[in-house]
Amino acid sequence: MTSSHSTVRVDLGDRSYDVLVGHGVANEIATQIPDNVRRIAVVTQPGVPIRLALPVEHKIFEIGNGESNKSITTVEKLCSGFADMGLTRNDLVIGVGGGMVTDVAGFAAAVFHRGVRVMHVATTLLAMVDAAIGGKTGVNLSAGKNLVGAFWQPSAVFCEMDALSTLPPEQMRGGLGELAKYHFISGDDFLSMDMQQRIARAVRIKADIVAADERESGQRALLNYGHTLGHAVEIATNFKVQHGEAVAIGLVYAAHLAEVMGRISDDRVKEHYAVVGSEYGLSTALPKGCTPDVLLPLIANDKKALDGLTFVLDSLRGLEVVPGVSEQNVREALAAMEVR
Ligand SMILES: NC(=O)c1ccc[n+]([C@@H]2O[C@H](COP(=O)([O-])OP(=O)(O)OC[C@H]3O[C@@H](n4cnc5c(N)ncnc54)[C@H](O)[C@@H]3O)[C@@H](O)[C@H]2O)c1
Repeated sequence: MTSSHSTVRVDLGDRSYDVLVGHGVANEIATQIPDNVRRIAVVTQPGVPIRLALPVEHKIFEIGNGESNKSITTVEKLCSGFADMGLTRNDLVIGVGGGMVTDVAGFAAAVFHRGVRVMHVATTLLAMVDAAIGGKTGVNLSAGKNLVGAFWQPSAVFCEMDALSTLPPEQMRGGLGELAKYHFISGDDFLSMDMQQRIARAVRIKADIVAADERESGQRALLNYGHTLGHAVEIATNFKVQHGEAVAIGLVYAAHLAEVMGRISDDRVKEHYAVVGSEYGLSTALPKGCTPDVLLPLIANDKKALDGLTFVLDSLRGLEVVPGVSEQNVREALAAMEVR
């Protein structure tokens, strides 16, 4: 393995774990498998380029692509397969893939035998900086995304940067949108870092927030920076603009809204354009059809909207959850955005 990998500790008492970031880190997994593990269930997808060399008996389970397969049916099939191979409570599940695999494998591990250990090998940028870290697992119902799930922390995570070379461009853009958010959550100078350092720093920020607020009752909401408008743009475009790219547009919008509300200066808004547009090459404009009349009801329906229109917004003190934002401010900030 490369000696230049980064290690980030997620500090959760006796459930603490390391996240390894770098090229070739998946090769390290064999050395991290606890001694009492006799069998391993590897959950992955057909397009995922990483195959693990494992020192104990194991079986590979491939799940289908796409959100329709992120389902209870898939979890039931996995758990039946685990039972057929004789996986016990002392054994291990390893999820190898993007956020869909880590969510599904994590949830199957959380419920099989009332909980078996799980490790993740994250192979998309989004899984590295977000989905694989923090223990949120789950599947969709027809009534909505991620409606059934569990908090189930992994015992190790490997952010395998070799996998990024095969990632389709739109997947990479989605991850960059989430990565861009971290530039504004901390005061760190992300722009001076290389990609491995940026991923490791994003993991560090998420790890610290998870350690302080594991079950998302307060600080963890800051990870939703850019997501309020982002979710509305995803729905308004019928998911043609995918999640991370919508979040990127949402970051620029949140900066405008903060400026309209007198929370930040124009320079800080320009920083958002510089990161999202110039650094990561992502769109900073609202897609055509995303008019205020289309977006406003979607923003109002956002699950974080506990008290009127709610946004995570920047300020001189850093990011804060701001409830009760007026419709007039929301419209004014939308009017400040380019439409393309
Ligand atoms: N649990 C959390 O905290 C959390 C956070 C954010 C997102 N999520 C979830 O993550 C999911 C999205 O994750 P995603 O964006 O990683 O997409 P994904 O997991 O659906 O992967 C997208 C596609 O890329 C393929 N792929 C994965 N790695 C590859 C590689 N290295 N090379 C080529 N192809 C590869 C996959 O097989 C899949 O077809 C959503 O279901 C979302 O709800 C969870």
